[in-house]
Amino acid sequence: MRDYQALMAELVTEIDEVDVQHGKIVLLLAQLEQTVNRTPLGMKPDFVAVASVLHDLREYIREHFATEETLMAGCNYPDLEAHRSEHRFFSDRVGKFVDQFNREGSGVAGDILFFIKGWIGTHIKNTDQKYVPFLKDRYR
Ligand SMILES: [Fe+2]
Ligand SMILES: [Fe+2]
Repeated sequence: MRDYQALMAELVTEIDEVDVQHGKIVLLLAQLEQTVNRTPLGMKPDFVAVASVLHDLREYIREHFATEETLMAGCNYPDLEAHRSEHRFFSDRVGKFVDQFNREGSGVAGDILFFIKGWIGTHIKNTDQKYVPFLKDRYR
């Protein structure tokens, strides 16, 4: 089992609202990973569990991306547009996963898991960290 607390420590921005929200996507990662791991070989992951993660992931996107984009705009963050386009990429991809889930069911869970891990490792660990110096004086 992955050490989610260690992962959270790597993502810390020290901007409370952001850290709480990033905690939510780590929780969703943990939930989905457990669902996938406890799926017997040759079976599809639990439908309701995957539906629930996808639902919460869309809520997360709505809340978190708006928070970050508002904070960045508030301090005239120079890379706002590039950052926003990464958010848009993530939202679009999750939308496609939702379509795929509606068509094909929970077999898509492994791909979603892989995608969320990649997002945390690239966007949250790197791209989000870049705004920290700009925001911390203003909001911390
Ligand atoms: Fe973020
Ligand atoms: Fe972000």
